[in-house]
This record gives sequence, structure tokens and C-alpha cells, in this order.
Amino acid sequence: MKFMSIKEAMKKGSGKVAVRGWVWRERGSNKVKFIVLRDSSGIIQCVITRETIGDQLFEVADKIQVETSMAIEGRIKKDSRAPTGYEIEADSFGIIGESHTYPITKDQSREFLDENRHLWIRSRKMTAIMKVRSTFMTARDEFFKKKGFYRFDPPILQPNQCEGGSTLFEVKYYNNKTYLSQSWQLYAEAAVFALERVYDSAPTFRAEKSKTSRHLSEFWMVEMEAAWMDLHEVSEFAKEELKYVISRVIEENEEELKFLGQDVEKLKRIVKKKWPTIKYREALKILKEKENMDVPFGKDLRTIEEDRLMKHFDTPVVVTHYPKEIMAFYKPSDPANKDEALCFDMLAPEGYGEIVGGSQRSTDIEEMRKALEKEGEDIKNYEWYFDLRRYGSVPHSGYGIGAERVIAWICKLDNIKDAIAFPRTMLRWKP
Ligand code: 4AD
Ligand code: MG
Repeated sequence: MKFMSIKEAMKKGSGKVAVRGWVWRERGSNKVKFIVLRDSSGIIQCVITRETIGDQLFEVADKIQVETSMAIEGRIKKDSRAPTGYEIEADSFGIIGESHTYPITKDQSREFLDENRHLWIRSRKMTAIMKVRSTFMTARDEFFKKKGFYRFDPPILQPNQCEGGSTLFEVKYYNNKTYLSQSWQLYAEAAVFALERVYDSAPTFRAEKSKTSRHLSEFWMVEMEAAWMDLHEVSEFAKEELKYVISRVIEENEEELKFLGQDVEKLKRIVKKKWPTIKYREALKILKEKENMDVPFGKDLRTIEEDRLMKHFDTPVVVTHYPKEIMAFYKPSDPANKDEALCFDMLAPEGYGEIVGGSQRSTDIEEMRKALEKEGEDIKNYEWYFDLRRYGSVPHSGYGIGAERVIAWICKLDNIKDAIAFPRTMLRWKP
């Protein structure tokens, strides 16, 4: 018989079916063995009885343990007592791969599960998150295709920093040294002079010394860069992209979101609402007036300030015009207010912090040179980047979304580590 997925079998609802997968739960007596089988599509209860399959095979069934891979052929029917409302009465079964004393049992510590991540990703929780992640990533491709963007892939080994030297991962490169990408941005800026509108999804590396629930050392930044766009256009575009992607996740993964404890109706409302844009100076005012927090102009918003600010919003918020002084070298100052930069962050509600960072790009070589020198950078490494301003420069803007931050938010995760299958942090780089 032809195998079908557990989901397809349940859709069929009656008659003969053949399914295969892994044993998620098992229990039994000396007459009946109950197996909850899982595959990538779902779970289903299967019953193997001594009466139907005979003594010899029942002895084999009796010994089946969790995570054994197996195939089962039988008759499916509705059963309100079964975990997913259907049950398969087995006529025959075959064991494909044995499993003995699976190490992951109930109530294991976070540490143990991280140590056994290669097995833990089979869990229903991780499976649900990985499905949402898959939708998120492919939905971006759809979005940018609709918008007429080209996919552009940057180098991962880069000779220069983009977001400050302190979080660079140094790599021995033959007799030289290079760094793992902190962002694709500088290369995307080169690409817009050929392709005009580009996007990508790429691994990004930061030697973060903080052990927070929001920071990874390796994460996927999903970025875009567009010629001719200004700050207003690019920040509105970021809202549109996220709304599109979240809508697609709601369409494709309602079941998973519910399983993860997310309120899907709330997400739908968020997508429909207008997401505000405020200036950094207005954010300071809200903090002062509503939270009694004094943040002087010129200080970056820390996690605590972002969280307190976001208590007053129930959608993501774009904050623009951070102080020029503390911004990355490529963020230009606003001609109208020299102490402000033409940049933005998008903050997520519910304490998930900064999910997007972006800006208009400086076209002023002198301004950038000064900022880089102040950071102690070797200007030689940036001459290629300055060339982009020397030969037919045009205004352009872009942003980067922290994929795991958004996934953590929409999946209601308490730690960003679960938004990626094999997290890399200051303390974890195995398995
Ligand atoms: O704000 P960031 O540093 O911006 C850039 O790197 C720009 N060059 C992007 C661009 O304009 N093309 O990083 C962008 C986003 C942050 O808003 C955050 O969501 C995420 O990347 N991010 C991290 N996510 C997980 N772990 C970390 N250590 C992260 N650092 C940044
Ligand atoms: Mg940032």
C-alpha cells in the first residue's frame, strides 16, 4: 500500500491507510499496545492488538520504545478519546529503526535539552517553530519577488566591520585575517548600483558578550537595500514586509501558533493595525512623562527603556532619528537637525525588543571617514566602500531584520535560542 502522511490519513478519515514515522508515546498491556506515531505532519494514535496480529508479532510490538521508526498499515476511524481524534487499528506493522531508552524524557532541564539538541529538534515544540520559520523565510522570497527585487548573496568573510569592531569574529585567512559577516549591508550597497533593489537572507555573526534571551552569536539577518529610497520610504517598506510575512505565517501555521500558545486573533489584529512611527526624541518624552525615566539625548535606548516604552504600544513601533553621535558610521546626519541620524529601529511589542535596524546611507565620505577614524578603524579597508560614493553615487537605504527575534515574538518564545535549530551563543556552540 502507498504511504500517506498522518495528516492525509486523518483527512481520509475511514478505511485502509498506511503511515510511517516515529513513536512519540507508547504504553500497553499484555493484550493491547497503544502507539502514538508522529511524522512531520502530525500525530495519531495506533492500536496493535494481540488478537489481530497474533502472538508472535505482538511480542515484537510489546517491546517498541519511544522514537522507534516504523510503518503501520491498518484501518482509520474517528475516536474522540485519541489525542488527535482519530485512531488506526493496525493490521500489520514493520519496524524500520530500533530505539532503546531514548535519552529525552519528561521534565528535562534547558541545559540537557541544549546538549541533546540534535534529538530535541524532533519535539513537537521545535517542529512547530521550525515550520513557522520555514514559512517566514519563504514568504520573504514571495514578498520581494512581488516587489521586483533581486536576490543578492554577499560574502561571509569580510575584511571590514559594519556594526562596530567589538563584536567581530576574527578568522585566520591563510596568512592574513578576516572577519565573519556582521551584516551584508556594505556589499548590498555595492550591488544596488547594478541591481537597484536587492534582498537576502544570510547567516550573521556577532561575538556578543551578553548572555540574554535576545542575543545569538550566529543568527540570520534578512536584509534589503534599495537605490532611490529615503528613510520614510524604507521604514514604511519594513512595516509592509513584516505584515506580509506575518500574514503568511497566520495562513500557513495557525495550528502551530496555537500549539505554541500564541493568540492568533491578536496577531491578526496587529497585522491590520497601523504601526506608528515616532522620533527618538518623542520616545524620550514618553519615557519621561509616562515612566518617569530620565534618558538624556545622546544615550542609546537600553533593553529596559525599550521595554518600558513598548508598554504603551500593542503593535511594533518604528523609532527614527537616533542621536548621530552614537550611530554606526554609515548613518547620515539629518540636514534639518545635525545631531540626529536618518536611521530607524523597529521595536516589537510584548518585550521582544529591537527586531529591525535600518537607515538611509551616508553619501558623505568625509563624515564617514571621521566616524571610522574615531573608532580606530584602518581607513584603507574602506576605500572600496568610498568608491561607491565617488562614481555615480545615489541616495539609497536599507534595513536588516533579525529573523530569530521576529520568530521568537510571533511564536511567543521565552528565549531566542528556540527560534533557530542549533543556537550559537557565548556559552554554546555544540552540537
Ligand atoms: O541593528 P543591526 O545591528 O543593523 C545592521 O546590522 C544593519 N547593517 C542592517 C542593515 O541596515 N542592512 O542589526 C539588525 C537586526 C537587529 O535589529 C536585530 O533584530 C538583529 O539584527 N540582531 C540580532 N539578532 C540576534 N542576535 C544578535 N546578536 C543580534 N544582533 C542584531
Ligand atoms: Mg540595531
